[in-house]
Amino acid sequence: MRHQRTTPTLDAGEIDKMRSVGRLAASVLEMIGEHVQPGATTEDLDRICHEYIVGELGCVPAPLNYSASAGQTPFPKSICTSVNHVVCHGIPTTKKVLRNGDAMNIDVTIIKDGYHGDTSKMFLIGKPNVLARRLSAVTQECLYRGIAEVRPGAHIGNIGHAIQRHAESHRFSVVREFCGHGIGAKFHDEPQILHYGKRNDGIVLKPGMAFTIEPMINAGKRHVKILPDEWTVVTKDHKLSAQWEHTLLVTEDGVEVLTLREEELGWLEQAPTATNASLAVSA
Ligand code: MF3
Ligand code: CO
Ligand code: CO
Repeated sequence: MRHQRTTPTLDAGEIDKMRSVGRLAASVLEMIGEHVQPGATTEDLDRICHEYIVGELGCVPAPLNYSASAGQTPFPKSICTSVNHVVCHGIPTTKKVLRNGDAMNIDVTIIKDGYHGDTSKMFLIGKPNVLARRLSAVTQECLYRGIAEVRPGAHIGNIGHAIQRHAESHRFSVVREFCGHGIGAKFHDEPQILHYGKRNDGIVLKPGMAFTIEPMINAGKRHVKILPDEWTVVTKDHKLSAQWEHTLLVTEDGVEVLTLREEELGWLEQAPTATNASLAVSA
């Protein structure tokens, strides 16, 4: 029983719904790119995404009014916008005007037919300095290296190990307080996907499991703090942080990236066990 509770798997009907919502979540990140410009506020981006998610896609933005724990102030917006030293869960606001040189994560989670798709990427505004560009690129590589470990029979610790090894080889650090998560009818389900760890540690992956990988990688020390708004997570040393996220499905022989964007197809070709049915279906 315990085993079943910690490793939920999806049936064929649920997998279809996850493919569908994953594809739509990816489309939000594709849609918003042209609006990410110097002078835009993060509130502008929230409004555009909200209208697209609700009006065009007929979906529900999962962050809006979400509470992670009983008593926590509900999240007030539809997307998370995390700029520069903000690690994650940044709240869109009219006060945050994007400037040339900023690096921002936009994190989108939407619900369709009761199932969740969760994905995020970094946007570079104008031309950030070389450190910001390197941190963003290495964090994206961390995500892909984590995904490349996903297949039936692999231990969950292999994912975190691959991510930590890559980040630390570039002398960056891995945030430990937040992790990837099982996803489906619930936004945040078992198992926890740590972004650090040891090979052959933890549960064994099985076909039908769906979860996110969402490494948060810091340029300085790994430590973070939460602001008094109860949501915004920042680096303690105020140095830069980056994050990239996908929702994944463990298949019979590898992994399917449910939230893959068209711009990532080149990467998919290099990854031996990865497939993407959602793009194949939409093509
Ligand atoms: N999308 C985030 C994740 O990857 C969670 C955001 S919760 C919110 O798990 F309330 F801050 F939006
Ligand atoms: Co997530
Ligand atoms: Co997310």
